[in-house]
Amino acid sequence: MKLSPQTIQAAVDAAHSSSAPNIGGANANYIPYLASVPSELFGVAVMTTDGRLYKAGDTDYAFAIESISKVFTLALVTELIGSEAVRQKVGTTPTGLPFNSVMALELHNGKPLSPLVNAGAIAIVSLVSGVSADACWAKILDMQSRFAGRPIALSDEINQSEQTTNFHNRAIGWLLCSAGTCYSDPMRAVDVYTRQCSTLVTTTDLAVMGATLAGGGVNPVTRLSVVAAANIPHLLSEMTMEGLYTASGDWAYQVGLPGKSGVGGGILAVAPGKLAIAAFSPQLDLVGNSVRGQAAVAYIAKALGLNLFGS
Ligand code: DON
Repeated sequence: MKLSPQTIQAAVDAAHSSSAPNIGGANANYIPYLASVPSELFGVAVMTTDGRLYKAGDTDYAFAIESISKVFTLALVTELIGSEAVRQKVGTTPTGLPFNSVMALELHNGKPLSPLVNAGAIAIVSLVSGVSADACWAKILDMQSRFAGRPIALSDEINQSEQTTNFHNRAIGWLLCSAGTCYSDPMRAVDVYTRQCSTLVTTTDLAVMGATLAGGGVNPVTRLSVVAAANIPHLLSEMTMEGLYTASGDWAYQVGLPGKSGVGGGILAVAPGKLAIAAFSPQLDLVGNSVRGQAAVAYIAKALGLNLFGS
């Protein structure tokens, strides 16, 4: 059944108004910039694979992409080295442990298992070829921009805030290096990983990026192919298994869509062949997922009957 514009806009409006009173959680505070973002901000957007946009609330506010960036660098590396090499070199299975877990690495001889936890994402960055950190970074930024259909930019303020506090991730980089699972200089990989988390996106950008995944890799705004259609199922399966970290299983059980969250408060879900739902609100639950964002995305998925396991 084709969803009418009125049906989608009504779901977006109702998701925003019904989730807005949900003021639980707290801004991430381990990155100083994130603690300073106004907590009351809340945006919800849907973009269909044929380029129709529906939105409510603060959808133009630019926030830190954070971990949602992991999906787009995974897309780039899957294009560069192939899905099987990603599986061999990094792994493609959930860890069952928090996104920055060192224990997960220790338990698996330094193999990250998932490209969507910090260790796996740093290993994925280390697989982006380039003669320098800047060359590697240029490819990653270009991929984020192609997904968004407009030039995405680094926030120097966020990057500075992250680069001066990312000691835990540097420790993960050295552990990867000692296990042979970092494929470039580890501090270069952590530097570039930190930059990829520090770009600014709006809720509308996230919806376009997600709709590119929903549309077999074709950006609904530019109509350009960003990633091979054959790689999309690999990306969406990783999002299903690890996209909301240790809440991913509950998310699949309750919502039934591949998703990805970031500690900046962004969240994205993909209904393959149809649309993407994006939301942003900075207050996070204990796992690191936006409280209002999850509520709004879940509301729309249910209202529009998008659960992949439904029928
Ligand atoms: O590496 C970090 O800790 C952050 N730059 C990103 C983590 C993140 O977004 C995890 N998300 N839920």
